[in-house]
Amino acid sequence: MINKVIEEVREKGWSFNTDFLSGVELQAINDFFVAHKSEFVPAKVGKGNESQRATEIRGDNTLWLDPLAPQPPFDKIMNFLEELKRSLNQSFFLGLKEFECHLAYYPVGSFYIEHLDRFESDSSRTLSFVFYIHDSWNPDDGGELVLYSKDKKFISSILPLPGSFMCFMSEDFPHEVRVSRKERRTLTGWMHTKIIY
Ligand code: OGA
Ligand code: MN
Repeated sequence: MINKVIEEVREKGWSFNTDFLSGVELQAINDFFVAHKSEFVPAKVGKGNESQRATEIRGDNTLWLDPLAPQPPFDKIMNFLEELKRSLNQSFFLGLKEFECHLAYYPVGSFYIEHLDRFESDSSRTLSFVFYIHDSWNPDDGGELVLYSKDKKFISSILPLPGSFMCFMSEDFPHEVRVSRKERRTLTGWMHTKIIY
């Protein structure tokens, strides 16, 4: 899968891949999810002192993971991300150093309006990635990830199929998460050009 991701990032700046995680792997992740659900906090908008809760912007709840102290259900994802980071650096000389990631769930009726993943004050976020870890998803459940070009032209609408993996260059793609009609679960994160831990 790494080679497909590299070639697609080279050609168009993003890559969507189905069936990265098996049913058994999804089950283990969802058991972790349920066990830790009370620790999730409403996601905020902005960075540091300027961050604030804004459900009219984003309605997800997040739990940050520590890539330096990996939990077993995420081993496959973390190993894949390390390998992907190496391959991206080899292919594109991006100078990626570390990645950060959180689990997130979007309750029924929530969304994340169009945004860029880069903070104005910090250009270190270089590659955005999302693994979809709910156990089933139908087209009428909504929750699509919609990608736009920098000049706001529609590029693609991605149904968050369970077990699939999405990545895109953080700087180049404004995107939104459409309203979910079912609880939508992800592991989302960013590869950085600076040391973060
Ligand atoms: C984000 C985001 C996309 C998704 O968390 O910044 O855009 O598909 N997530 O969940
Ligand atoms: Mn985003």
